[in-house]
Amino acid sequence: MQTKLLKPTPEALAEAAALLRRGELVAFPTETVYGLGANALDADAVLSIFRAKGRPADNPLIMHIHSEEQLDGLVTIPDMARPLMARFWPGPLTLLMPRTAAVPDAVTAGLATVAVRMPSHPIARRLLESCGLPVAAPSANRSGKPSPTTAAHVLEDMDGIIPLILDGGPCEVGLESTVLDVCHGTPCILRPGGVTREMLEEVIGPVTVAGSVLRPLREGEVARSPGMRYRHYAPEGAVLLVEGSEAETLEALRRLYRAAEAEGEKACVLCFSEHAHALSDCAPHDLGSISCPEETAGRLFDVLRGLDRDGYTAIFSEVVNPEGVGLAVMNRLGRAAGFHTVSATEVLRPDHKEE
Ligand code: TXA
Ligand code: MG
Repeated sequence: MQTKLLKPTPEALAEAAALLRRGELVAFPTETVYGLGANALDADAVLSIFRAKGRPADNPLIMHIHSEEQLDGLVTIPDMARPLMARFWPGPLTLLMPRTAAVPDAVTAGLATVAVRMPSHPIARRLLESCGLPVAAPSANRSGKPSPTTAAHVLEDMDGIIPLILDGGPCEVGLESTVLDVCHGTPCILRPGGVTREMLEEVIGPVTVAGSVLRPLREGEVARSPGMRYRHYAPEGAVLLVEGSEAETLEALRRLYRAAEAEGEKACVLCFSEHAHALSDCAPHDLGSISCPEETAGRLFDVLRGLDRDGYTAIFSEVVNPEGVGLAVMNRLGRAAGFHTVSATEVLRPDHKEE
């Protein structure tokens, strides 16, 4: 199949809407990451998303809408959802809602709830409006790869597999939407994103965060969000996170980098802009400013994809404070590292041995 990459002209949007109505797949920009869309009410179209991504069939999709009326007959809106919809839609917040039989099992992997989101990106909104359908769309990457934040990333993964990519430039947020369960007791963040815990709590009071956001699932633990079970965001090389004071972290990163290179690895460090100069002989990759987790969010997936292109085998990274958007950054960085973390103090001990 020939994959077209088109700027979002009115003609291209009309072509994209027609493809969706015919049951085909279209990749399109949102404010978070690029999505791979299909008509959410056409089970065959939805199943073709799973094939294109190589996605496990038990990992449910998000249904995208442009107006609340589209939800009529598809879901029951939980009371707790209403003030959040009023405050954060359109925007990077996905809400779980009990669904009716009109939503195909293919979208929800058979679950009783469906994840719903109203994106704010103008191209996503125009596409949703002109096709007139709810659109099921996961991130437009091959399963396991970092989500695409540019049309070039989508092309890397989907060339020859889908008919059309709408190119809307780089995504603003750069990490996927916040997924919030408002169906069971205290609202719970299943996946942190651009709408932070602090922002949600201002509107609805206490919100919990699923345990698996900052650590691996424990043996026998049931994932509240199926996506949490899978290896994700991970580059081919081994990633190790280094925690500690600024001075110790920089010294530990240098030491880890040198030890890895001495063992024949192709090593690099991921660091804040403020530290790139001090780490200039350690192949530094700039995560943005230490004081701006939004900037790190915007760059992270591009940096992770670049590591594979350049063939790095040993990657050592600084960490951010898991607060505000920093929680989403640490969730993605943690999963990229398989949650492997070391303290800088430990690395600097004279008897420290690399594993
Ligand atoms: O920002 C985003 O959310 C992007 C853009 C394209 O909208 N989409 C996205 O979709 O990230 P995806 O499929 O890559 O991630 C959806 C996440 C998965 O972790 C999935 O397990 C979870 O949402 N999810 C979907 N439906 C669910 C449900 N009914 N219950 C629990 N988790 C659900
Ligand atoms: Mg995804």
